[in-house]
Amino acid sequence: MVAIARKIPSAPAAPQSEFARDVLAGLGKTPKTISPKYFYDSEGSRLFEDITQIAEYYPTRSEIEILKSHAADMGALFPKDTALIEFGSGASTKARVLLDAAPNVAAYVPVDVSAEFLAQEAASLHKDYPKLNVVPVAADFTQDFELPQQIAAMPRAGFFPGSTIGNFDPHDACAFLEHARRILGPESVLIIGVDLEKDSNVLHAAYNDASGVTEQFNINLLRRMNRELDADFDISRFEHHAFYNRERHRIEMHLASVKRQKVRVAGETIEFKAGETIHTENSYKYSVESFASMARGCGWKPLTVWLDKKKYFSVHAMRAS
Ligand code: AVJ
Repeated sequence: MVAIARKIPSAPAAPQSEFARDVLAGLGKTPKTISPKYFYDSEGSRLFEDITQIAEYYPTRSEIEILKSHAADMGALFPKDTALIEFGSGASTKARVLLDAAPNVAAYVPVDVSAEFLAQEAASLHKDYPKLNVVPVAADFTQDFELPQQIAAMPRAGFFPGSTIGNFDPHDACAFLEHARRILGPESVLIIGVDLEKDSNVLHAAYNDASGVTEQFNINLLRRMNRELDADFDISRFEHHAFYNRERHRIEMHLASVKRQKVRVAGETIEFKAGETIHTENSYKYSVESFASMARGCGWKPLTVWLDKKKYFSVHAMRAS
């Protein structure tokens, strides 16, 4: 008998995670890029919390100083029984400062991707603010999401602290502002934290701290790919680079290959030239006027802006236009 070779159907390719797909797409481009949203696995989130405590990293301290000094003025912009919606709430540390001085807030809607973290935070907020209606929404705040039914009839205020908007290039920042305007609706208010342009030595130091925490935060992305994408980055062959790009008003962070090398990532081989980098983050800096004028073109009318004493950071209040 003649054996007839039958074609064995090949096993379906293992489904790739979104992380794997995005990383392979980004490493396939020239220049190589990976979105800063991938910094924040649990290790990266912990390292970012450490960053907020280091001496050179001024943004968190400056913003909290502004919130502590002016939360009552911000709260005065909210009509009675307002729902406060926070985009990317994390531990809600800054929202608490605002809530403490804004008696008109009747509901708080933290929006965050981490459902587990959200539930924990909601419980803790409920304990600390027994009269506040806490309605968490597990969603990616950059995508469309539905506001909960409970707050449908309430006036809305958005809260977007931390200069997270600085991670977006100006075009995407404008798109985000329009998106927030759509979700919050007409008449709404937005309180948004924006890092300011300043002496480039101060900026440089904030992203090149002496203790090396920012370096570890950047390099954690390589470790994360080794952990989750079966990658074999030798971290001794990459360096943290962070510098101020004056023309583009942004800090850039990169992971630079110190030599020519090949790396395996999620089943593919990626080649690096000596000195070639993966661009991992932009952190845009604005002047008060450059931010206000961008916002005017993207659905918002600037109302007030507050700065810290050193004028390092700004918090804008704007109304939907
Ligand atoms: C959370 C985007 C505001 O850009 O300063 C801190 C992230 N990167 N150190 C920033 C970050 C390096 C941070 N943001």
